[in-house]
Amino acid sequence: MRPFWGNLMMNEVSYQGWRNAKLKSCPQSAEELFVEIGGLVDLSDTEKAAIRTNCRRSNMAIYQCRNDFVDRDAVRAFASNFGLHRLDHHLCANEDGVSELSVASRGIRTEYVPYSSRSLSWHTDGYYNEPSRHVQAVVLHCANPAAAGGENALFDPEIAYIRLRDENPDFITALEHPECMTIPANTGAQGEIRPAVCGPVFSRDVRSGAIHMRYSARKKNIQWRDDVLTRTARKFLTEILADDKEPIFHYRLRAGEGLISNNVLHNRTAFEDGPGHRRLIYRARFYDRIDSR
Ligand SMILES: [Fe+2]
Repeated sequence: MRPFWGNLMMNEVSYQGWRNAKLKSCPQSAEELFVEIGGLVDLSDTEKAAIRTNCRRSNMAIYQCRNDFVDRDAVRAFASNFGLHRLDHHLCANEDGVSELSVASRGIRTEYVPYSSRSLSWHTDGYYNEPSRHVQAVVLHCANPAAAGGENALFDPEIAYIRLRDENPDFITALEHPECMTIPANTGAQGEIRPAVCGPVFSRDVRSGAIHMRYSARKKNIQWRDDVLTRTARKFLTEILADDKEPIFHYRLRAGEGLISNNVLHNRTAFEDGPGHRRLIYRARFYDRIDSR
């Protein structure tokens, strides 16, 4: 789906065309996102086309891989088929830029919730990154599910944008404000790990014009711009994310399955590991958007 261009006031006609096409083609269930593939490193043209189609419709696809041997190199090779090359080498990633999400028992990862068995509230990845390092796309590959739990909910940020704009276009103005959402500095025992980052919730990807969303529902460690419109917009967004009539997809990845997305909104339920069931998800974050042409 082609993004619309221009600012809020000038582009109402092109916005309405984009909005209507988007809502018409939007999937209504996780099953509509499925694409069966033979292996991550040798995708056929048909498999690639099916993944691209789903990403055009909903900014995401869930692949189901018949070949069960997958390592971090395979995840990177898979991603490169979709123009995803520039990895976000963040604090907890391996040297190759791919993270292993599992329950950490030692080291820096024990300080961060994604590396625990706790639940994660709604967010987009890298919301604490500065604008030059916006996470545009993410691949999550499930090497091994937990014994219980670890389900994700997934929601296309473009639908969130539409709901907010339909309710009140001023919500978008508030959420596009450059000082809308501030993440305070991350400071450890050795000093500052990352400076404070301030920016909008919604912005446009310079290359494609597509909407980029930066969001966290965390109550702690987020400073929101203190005005009525921002508060009301946030409240409305919270309601959308709790509305079971919205096309929010609840899915628990099984071994060999993965999600490729333009960094869609997501959360995670808590989970429990057990003998032979230690949850392991490979995660690769990119500064590129999925090339879904
Ligand atoms: Fe995440």
